[in-house]
Amino acid sequence: MTKKHILVLPGDGIGPEVTAQAVRVLQAVGDFRFGYANLGGIAFDEEGDPYPKSTRAAAHKADAILLGAVGGLKWEPLDISVRPEKGLLGIRKDLELFANLRPAVVFEELAAASSLKPEIVAGLNIMIVRELTGDVYFGEPRGIHTNKDGSRTGINTMIYHDWEVQRVARVAFNLARKRGRKVCSIDKANVLVSTEMWRQEVQKLRDTEYPDIELSHMYVDNAAMQLVRNPKQFDVMLTGNIFGDILSDEASMLTGSLGMLPSASLGSGDTGKCAALYEPIHGSAPDIAGKGVANPIATILSVAMMLRYSFDNAAAADKVEQAVKKVLAKGLRTRDIMQEGCTAIGTVAMGDAILNALEGK
Ligand code: IPM
Ligand code: MG
Repeated sequence: MTKKHILVLPGDGIGPEVTAQAVRVLQAVGDFRFGYANLGGIAFDEEGDPYPKSTRAAAHKADAILLGAVGGLKWEPLDISVRPEKGLLGIRKDLELFANLRPAVVFEELAAASSLKPEIVAGLNIMIVRELTGDVYFGEPRGIHTNKDGSRTGINTMIYHDWEVQRVARVAFNLARKRGRKVCSIDKANVLVSTEMWRQEVQKLRDTEYPDIELSHMYVDNAAMQLVRNPKQFDVMLTGNIFGDILSDEASMLTGSLGMLPSASLGSGDTGKCAALYEPIHGSAPDIAGKGVANPIATILSVAMMLRYSFDNAAAADKVEQAVKKVLAKGLRTRDIMQEGCTAIGTVAMGDAILNALEGK
């Protein structure tokens, strides 16, 4: 059997540190071939393009992609067309990674770290399915125009096609079947017609193909409120690109630690047979980059998602997740999740601890 090929894009800031630990975990649970390429600010510095051709070619060949994080203050003065974020948007669009899975799970050991009361968040387990290649992020026309009278107009276009809604809704429904069989679809159908169509298409698909799923619809403003009022009412949340961007940050904070949350961006179906990219939810954290203190757990849990969705290896994914839980139960913490009575350790030591736990130590 040929070895699966994983492309690692360490990226910027703490990206290289956290991906290094995740690669060690992959090496411990399987026999993979690794390749490396640039994405984001480092890619602009070294190759003049945040998503260079060399990376593009490697991405199309890989069986799965592991990304650290992109961006940093250093590149903020750049034109938006070559900023690190453009590399991320570029690879998403190029590989048509239309389904972004962002779990918001509260680890028992960390429930007290949430800014909400423990009883509101304990046991929380939401899966946000965010559409990732459409909407106002990519819609045309777009741009900043200077008018004849010298005034300026900025334009973005909120747009969805029915097939874009259907394919991401299918991912949400299929995931719900393996969970609590509930999907809440988020829109602003009272104001925005593109999301009125979104609502209609999601409902149609539920009625024709997923009658076993309990589907509800919620306006995005209400959803933002419900997430902090009673987040446990949600099982799978299905959203468009911009609403998902905002709601997933909100949901991640319910869990108390951004440093713990993984994500998957999948190209087709819910099994990721096509292109698939895995990355931690957190950013590049330039303030702590290179100091050896970053939390690698979100990236390590992203690797667990990779094993589950790209390599159909639920057993190995479970093993990695259990190892993380074991290390937390032992009281080992990176400083972002430090609690009284626990032991503070750095990035590599956290990797070591998780590897030990994997070996049953
Ligand atoms: C995210 C990020 C990106 C997005 C940025 C960095 C382009 O906020 O992955 O949520 O807006 O999608
Ligand atoms: Mg975001």
